[in-house]
Amino acid sequence: MMKVLVVGGGGREHALVWKLKQSPRVSKIYCAPGNAGIAGDAECVPCAAEDLEGLLEFARSRQIDLTVVGPEAPLVAGIRDLFEASGMRLFGPTARGALLEGSKVFAKQLMVKCGVPTASFEVFEDPQAALAHVRRIGGPCVIKADGLAAGKGVIVAKDTSEAEQAVRLIGEEKAFGKAGEKIIVEECLVGEEVSVLAFTDGRTVLPMVASQDHKRVFDGDQGPNTGGMGAYSPPPVYTSEIHHRVCREILEPIIGGLAGEGIKYQGVLYAGLMITSKGPYVLEFNCRFGDPEAQAVIPRLKTDLVDVMEAVLEGRLAGFTLDWDPRPAACVVLASGGYPGSYEKGKEISGLKDVPEDVLVFHAATALSGGRLVTSGGRVLGVTGFGRTIREAVQRAYEGVAKISFEGMHYRRDIAHHALERERSR
Ligand code: AMP
Ligand code: GLY
Repeated sequence: MMKVLVVGGGGREHALVWKLKQSPRVSKIYCAPGNAGIAGDAECVPCAAEDLEGLLEFARSRQIDLTVVGPEAPLVAGIRDLFEASGMRLFGPTARGALLEGSKVFAKQLMVKCGVPTASFEVFEDPQAALAHVRRIGGPCVIKADGLAAGKGVIVAKDTSEAEQAVRLIGEEKAFGKAGEKIIVEECLVGEEVSVLAFTDGRTVLPMVASQDHKRVFDGDQGPNTGGMGAYSPPPVYTSEIHHRVCREILEPIIGGLAGEGIKYQGVLYAGLMITSKGPYVLEFNCRFGDPEAQAVIPRLKTDLVDVMEAVLEGRLAGFTLDWDPRPAACVVLASGGYPGSYEKGKEISGLKDVPEDVLVFHAATALSGGRLVTSGGRVLGVTGFGRTIREAVQRAYEGVAKISFEGMHYRRDIAHHALERERSR
């Protein structure tokens, strides 16, 4: 029997804990730092996800058999390397592997080297040169800070003036600090976005079912970007033909390219794709499960997650297969009033006990305060429903949502709209 530690405290980590708990091989689950909902499924440990030494000390003292990392920051900071040096097993890539997410310049250059389709781009260290470039190219383009910027370092500019503003924000006002020391200016791609998460042991790539995130805060993909307001799986735009191209043209070459750099990438590789008229293009790579994609994908996985993770760490993915629930799943994120801008915390959450049993509620930012369950962040809960069709899955999720309330609660009412529009136009 195994003792498992999950690092992180959001909806993705709740989904991981929920799934790991179902493994007959797991006797005890800890989560650092976790949240009030995760506390129902795991023992929460008051240690921040960024406190690498603290996590190692905890894992050693409790003789943890497997540590699973949710967020990118500890991976980019080298938590795999640290644990490995102490002989501790940890699921996730090394710091060099995590550069795929930690440095967009590294990721773009590797894609070019491996012939992986991605938007054409230029890299600048001098903001003045970047400004001159956006003036020269004119029209829409995308401006990105090189490093980690909590999902805010990407600005899609519809014209030269917005592009100039974005370059100034990153290069002159240093809105993202050191993460903005290099600026990428790239071609604006048009199409539908899809998230493909894959397990990989550094040689073999084993993709999970695809999903689609909803990054903008309001219905119809309006308003500012968020961490993700909902997800569903599978997206109809992701046909089996596209899937084969993604494996052949993107996932396999990039893992091969990393291996060529001496990087054995083990963990989850997340490819954020744009499905264009010319086929799939990479928008970004992440070195972990997506949030909220995990809340729609993991519940569909029937295979024991511990078995897969072990196969990854032991380089045994070749020949391993994943078993999936054929039913689509949809996750609706309930957010605090004002999110993704400023918002208040500490609002009492009610109605969870009335949510139908087959609807899953993953906690993203909840806390206990004087015995009451309250909000403690921007994205508060993720409500996942299943159905025979995407439409049914979405309906079921919203039936769960209808039972829940807290002051200021808002959510998108059009999760899976791309899929449902396709259905209508058929
Ligand atoms: P990223 O963090 O690189 O995925 O960027 C965040 C979001 O910006 C993506 O999910 C897309 O919606 C958008 N985006 C990034 N790069 C491009 C691009 N080259 N063309 C169009 N949209 C983009
Ligand atoms: N949902 C986007 C991400 O996890 O990066």
